[in-house]
Amino acid sequence: MQRAVYPGSFDPITNGHLDIIKRAAVMYDELVVAVVTNYSKKPTFSTEERIAMIKKSTEGLNNIRVTNFDGLLVDFAAAEKANIIVKGLRAVSDFEYEFQMALMNKKLRKDIETIFIMTNYKYSYLSSSMVKEIASLGGCIKDLVPDSILQDIKNKFKD
Ligand SMILES: Nc1ncnc2c1ncn2[C@@H]1O[C@H](COP(=O)(O)OP(=O)(O)OP(=O)(O)O)[C@@H](O)[C@H]1O
Ligand SMILES: [Mg+2]
Repeated sequence: MQRAVYPGSFDPITNGHLDIIKRAAVMYDELVVAVVTNYSKKPTFSTEERIAMIKKSTEGLNNIRVTNFDGLLVDFAAAEKANIIVKGLRAVSDFEYEFQMALMNKKLRKDIETIFIMTNYKYSYLSSSMVKEIASLGGCIKDLVPDSILQDIKNKFKD
């Protein structure tokens, strides 16, 4: 049984995240999508809202589990009996930070590997922050996020 953890703020989940989830899900027996709750930036969506949107977006994928955690990622992964951490890489700008995190996590727990999945070229420009900025300015976010959560995001920014 090989279990992997895909951590993130998912504030909210985007089509870029969903693409990574689908591609990782075929590589491991179970993928635990883990919403970070000790987020230094204050999230726009609550932990419960973020989890609910991920669940809606991954309906029909049967080896996905969605949960949240705070504290150290490697401790969470170990508690979940997962020895793989999955990360997505969009551009050189993601690399520096992810490289440092991967090495630090390896130092903290050498039995856990970080695996990087390259972005789908269609989503290389896509981030949660970008989605929120566009939604807050009344722009169209269709094709940027799963259709099933479009309305949830619009509702958040409607006033
Ligand atoms: N479009 C994308 N393609 C591939 N990987 C992505 C994409 N967006 C995010 N990821 C990856 O998903 C993980 C979680 O990302 P995170 O929740 O921080 O999203 P984000 O879009 O970067 O959000 P924010 O805009 O708030 O920084 C990270 O490993 C990140 O590199
Ligand atoms: Mg980011």
